[in-house]
Amino acid sequence: MADNTQKVWFITGSSTGFGRVLAETVLEEGNCVIATARKPEQLNDLITQYPETAKAIRLDVTNPQEVSEAVNSALDAFGRIDVLVNNAGYGAVGALEEFSDEAIRRQFETNLLGALNVMRAVLPSMRQQRSGHILNISSVGGFVSFPGSGIYCSTKFALEGLSEALAQEVKPLGIKVTIIEPGAFRTDFGGRSLITPEQSIDDYASTSGAMIQWIRENDGKQPGDPKKAAKAMIQVVESDNPPLRLALGADAVNAISEKLESVKAELEAWKQVAIDTAFEGVEVGAIGG
Ligand SMILES: NC(=O)c1ccc[n+]([C@@H]2O[C@H](COP(=O)([O-])OP(=O)(O)OC[C@H]3O[C@@H](n4cnc5c(N)ncnc54)[C@H](OP(=O)(O)O)[C@@H]3O)[C@@H](O)[C@H]2O)c1
Repeated sequence: MADNTQKVWFITGSSTGFGRVLAETVLEEGNCVIATARKPEQLNDLITQYPETAKAIRLDVTNPQEVSEAVNSALDAFGRIDVLVNNAGYGAVGALEEFSDEAIRRQFETNLLGALNVMRAVLPSMRQQRSGHILNISSVGGFVSFPGSGIYCSTKFALEGLSEALAQEVKPLGIKVTIIEPGAFRTDFGGRSLITPEQSIDDYASTSGAMIQWIRENDGKQPGDPKKAAKAMIQVVESDNPPLRLALGADAVNAISEKLESVKAELEAWKQVAIDTAFEGVEVGAIGG
């Protein structure tokens, strides 16, 4: 059981990258971690180093049975989950037309439905305790889409849509939600985890093909430091007034700022056309009342 001064974190995809570094950083600070991974033996060193505060559990987020077992054994071990981090995910990068049906489904099963399943499994206990914080690891690609990233970005846009609604549903219940939007960080994302189409189409070489090449060439040279990202995520959890969204990295901040400006300019330019679509004489209120 965790004592009342400790926070209990449940992290998906803890084998490498953000999940691994976040688990290490939370443990270094004296808090408890349920580190989950498809191969939990990859976490043995953490369990040896922190036998009281770390627990490793097998979890493939696409397996609903494993999701419910992992959440139950986390609650048995520590009595509660204070922070859920939906981190497990990968990038399928290629043009829309190039990917197989199966590759597209797998991307949604992992990045979107996996996170959704874990949230649905953890929420009952958070509602009961009337507290908790869910961090959903999206991406700058959850706000801005890029050539070659349509499949990946659509999973992250959808995750952001879910998160934005959830934040409003659970706020009255004492539960917080934060969407994390990293730019390029030095993890396994652009290396062993990157999925590209089995067959490429020449017509997309200069768009999607160039994006794949850019990701590969920058693998290991990404500007973002996962340790600093982990510290920023911990700062969000410790904040009395955490944001709904946190971009990480100047690349993410710049891309999101540019998109906000262009969406605003376009909205203004076409505002009258948009407004003039109501029935004559009807007053338009806010969505949802
Ligand atoms: N690094 C970046 O530049 C960047 C930028 C924006 C967003 N992100 C997001 O950050 C998150 C973490 O990625 P990362 O950058 O840390 O890359 P990473 O080092 O490749 O880590 C990805 C993690 O996700 C796990 N995973 C993949 N499919 C899974 C499944 N079905 N069930 C459980 N775990 C699964 C991997 O487990 P295995 O070891 O078993 O493969 C691994 O632990 C992802 O959601 C990614 O979209 C990364």
